[in-house]
Amino acid sequence: MSRRIPDAVIEGILKHYDIVDVVGRYVHLSKQGHYMKGLCPFHSEKSPSFTVTPEKQIYHCFGCHAGGNVIHFIMGVETLSFTEAVRQLAEEASIPVDWEPVSEQQTEQQREAKSLYEAYEFSAKFYNYILLNTEQGKTALDYLRSRGMNDRLIEAFQLGYSPNMRNKLAEILEKRGYDLILMERGGLLSRRDDGSYADKFRDRVMFPIHDQKGRIIAFGGRAMGDIQPKYMNSPETMLFNKSRNMYNFHQARAAIRKTRSVVLLEGYVDVIKTWEAGIVNGVASMGTALTREHASLLRRNAEQAIICYDGDNAGQSAAYKSIDLLEKEGMHVKVAYIPGGQDPDEYISQYGGERFRREIIEGAYTSLKFKLLYIRRHYNLQDVDGKFRYIEAALKLVAELESPVEREHYVKELASEFPYASDNFMQQLNGYRQDLLKKRQPGDNPDISWNNVINNGNPKEKIKAVPAHLKAEAALIAAMLHDREAAEQVQDQLGEQFSSELHAALAAYLYAYYAQGFDPDVSRFVATLQDERLEQAATSLSMEDYTPVLSALEHYILTVKLYPQLKQLKHLEAEAGRIADPLEAARRIQEIRKEIQALEKQLKSL
Ligand code: CTP
Ligand code: MN
Repeated sequence: MSRRIPDAVIEGILKHYDIVDVVGRYVHLSKQGHYMKGLCPFHSEKSPSFTVTPEKQIYHCFGCHAGGNVIHFIMGVETLSFTEAVRQLAEEASIPVDWEPVSEQQTEQQREAKSLYEAYEFSAKFYNYILLNTEQGKTALDYLRSRGMNDRLIEAFQLGYSPNMRNKLAEILEKRGYDLILMERGGLLSRRDDGSYADKFRDRVMFPIHDQKGRIIAFGGRAMGDIQPKYMNSPETMLFNKSRNMYNFHQARAAIRKTRSVVLLEGYVDVIKTWEAGIVNGVASMGTALTREHASLLRRNAEQAIICYDGDNAGQSAAYKSIDLLEKEGMHVKVAYIPGGQDPDEYISQYGGERFRREIIEGAYTSLKFKLLYIRRHYNLQDVDGKFRYIEAALKLVAELESPVEREHYVKELASEFPYASDNFMQQLNGYRQDLLKKRQPGDNPDISWNNVINNGNPKEKIKAVPAHLKAEAALIAAMLHDREAAEQVQDQLGEQFSSELHAALAAYLYAYYAQGFDPDVSRFVATLQDERLEQAATSLSMEDYTPVLSALEHYILTVKLYPQLKQLKHLEAEAGRIADPLEAARRIQEIRKEIQALEKQLKSL
């Protein structure tokens, strides 16, 4: 549901709050020159790298690169959407929030949402009542008990049972005045040919699914016998989105934030059983592969993810896929492997929660170690050729590690398994590493932006050498954030010619921002972005010192223009021999050389 929040509401919020006060409610801040400093609430750290700049009304963390204005801060600490954060801040500031029912359709949608929330809550109580207090619920209760669910767990997870009756729930919902058409869309009922409504879930153990605020938004229903499908889930609705919601997130959130770590499971029962085993930061993606949205939700709340999927092939291959997704979001990933093809529930039932915690969770592999074990099964190591191919594949994985120490660690470990000198492993690894670095031309890959290295504390530490054209682009964006005229000049001379997609996007937003007549205001500008990566980049860039010097601006613009020309020249020279028309190739090369010379001449004359 994207709806437009009037600019006046956002402006009102930004005017009303001093970001120092709001952040101060969550973080102890101490003054340091132009800004305030404290421990970052978005990642764990021992020395403060989180800053708030009163003058710009923004926050920025040099460690994890979180950043934005007061609205983004509330989104982050309270895990809210942009709209929700705006609403919360507006309500507190007594800014009228009557912007929602702007159209008939929106009021209708809100009415439906409210009705669905109530119906789900009511149904959950109904299912829970049937389970605990009726004769019909007895088999289900026995079933749950046989699976190790005690009263405490049944209560904590609001488990229930949908009776094996045609339309018991339908009748009650109708009596209570619910719109049955809506109830059908919400997945509680189904419509029959004769126009009557029947219960959708029948004879199933019911697992309510909650949103982040703890409101029920769907159900998973498990059949007790060998009935297919084993699980039946509510359809996606305006409240329930499988690729965004996660089972048990609402209860696990506090522990996830506190420990900065989350345990990722596959199933409802796994979550409940690991909870009973004392792991209260466990969540599950429900019957779908992990999505980027899940990963981003988790990243906003934790640094570490421990994947603990089923020990069978399907579970392991899902784990393999989830690693990259989580690491791309910047998480530190471990994989807890359960031997014997068991799932967490089965393991805990057999060996107990204590052993599960100690051996499986605490013994989780690093993601690389897991990958090595995983690919190993595909090679026949008795066979010489199979052995070589495994070593090759393994070294290629090791080559992807950024830390030289970690690379060395795994190479040594690998070498110790085989009767070859470890120098040779190292040599082969270095070859793969070179290939990898060559493929990763800076500037071609928008993921390697100039500032996305996570570090703890010292901002200078570990920051990679940044190519000149990217530095120039960053400096231009920084200038444009503070200076309308700079933005206009860049728009005239460069337009969208930034080589980093991130920079190009920020430039486009800045052009649009100034075109609407706004004055430079970082906090206000980031409010127009509504994309986490862009918000963080903009805030981070705005932290750069900025002194308006015209010649510097021109220098940056020329540097940015020069880069694609140099790149194309290099490409043409390398390809010249293969181009069908050598004369044409020579002519193009000549042309580009001339353009480069002209640009270089201009640069020198500055
Ligand atoms: N799932 C589903 N629909 C299915 C099968 C599975 O939605 N037909 C989802 C459920 O969320 C389930 C999870 O995928 O919890 C994992 O599935 P699976 O491992 O098959 O089930 P378990 O969680 O182990 O359930 P149980 O222990 O009750 O057999
Ligand atoms: Mn299971």
